[in-house]
Amino acid sequence: MKTVVSGIRPTGMLHLGNYFGALKNFVKMQDSFKCFFFIADVHSLTTHPTPNNLQQSVKHVLAEYLALGLDPEKSTIFIQSDLPEVYELYTYMNMNAYLGELERNTTFKEKIRNQPDNINAGLLTYPVLMAVDILIHKADLVPVGKDQEQHLEMTRQFGKRFNRLYENDFFPAPKAFNFGEDLVKVPGLTGQGKMSKSSGEADTIFIFDDPSILKKKIMRAKTDGGPDKPNQKMSPEIANLFDLMNLVSEKSTVEKFREDYNKMTIRYGDFKKQLAEDMEKFVYPLRTQISDILGNTDYLAKVAEIGKEKAKASAQKTIKEVREIIGIKSFN
Ligand code: ADP
Ligand code: TRP
Repeated sequence: MKTVVSGIRPTGMLHLGNYFGALKNFVKMQDSFKCFFFIADVHSLTTHPTPNNLQQSVKHVLAEYLALGLDPEKSTIFIQSDLPEVYELYTYMNMNAYLGELERNTTFKEKIRNQPDNINAGLLTYPVLMAVDILIHKADLVPVGKDQEQHLEMTRQFGKRFNRLYENDFFPAPKAFNFGEDLVKVPGLTGQGKMSKSSGEADTIFIFDDPSILKKKIMRAKTDGGPDKPNQKMSPEIANLFDLMNLVSEKSTVEKFREDYNKMTIRYGDFKKQLAEDMEKFVYPLRTQISDILGNTDYLAKVAEIGKEKAKASAQKTIKEVREIIGIKSFN
């Protein structure tokens, strides 16, 4: 059976991009694969070195995982920092990750633009730590959104290099996975780029957003002056709103507004109102389940404990073999 690994950083609440790019597939993959899903708290320190309350954020994401359908009986659900084996493999893998390739990584370049005062070494070696998360369970498949494609390429590169260096075929070559479809990119509301936890309140729809906030965000989304000829190509702002509608509305609703657009009869106010309504209908049950589970601290602690034990068994096996391959052995 193929092994699956994926994780999300607890730098804020989960948003629609996280859901459609990653979590939705986590849930769907549980029945057919051996799955490891974790919360990447160590990774979050690369951008948020002094988090307000890291434990609270981890707990929130764990509650979101469970509320949105991850099942601790089917999957191993754990917290990255519960596996010190990850730190050990990260040290070894850092010895064969090269400065040039790390500096060329687009996410690194983007992040150093966003945080010029904190260009730390952890940010540079972020892809190594991510590769370790994946390789330590010898994963084959990694459900992620489009923005993570390059990290997966680097993961394969690091795994392959280890195999070549130590003359074995220890690590498999993991692939980004979306059930044979292209990887997903959910746009932000401002039309600037992908929806993300850090792209600003106005840009991002959090699954846990209050209904009034959610409505306000959508009604405030930027539009254009309207089409001035039939079947006109859409501006990025309008195309993004249609992309979002595609995710949560009935096909017939999307079609109706598309036709209105093409015939130049669309009223953006009505269009956004419908989008806000359908969005609320979509997130309402999810939001309610998150609230319910968040209150159940004992259950959350139990899930994390069980996940830790299962993930540890898998990580320890890999570390033991890696030490042997490298030649780290005791005298007796
Ligand atoms: P963020 O970008 O909000 O900080 P993460 O980087 O922690 O979120 O991403 C966690 C997962 O969610 C990754 O698999 C990532 O590809 C996916 N993801 C995040 N934003 C989007 C998006 N806008 N569209 C598709 N997938 C996304
Ligand atoms: N880099 C991923 C992101 O920002 C999070 C992540 C860390 C991850 N380790 C991983 C995703 C391993 C998949 C597998 O979205």
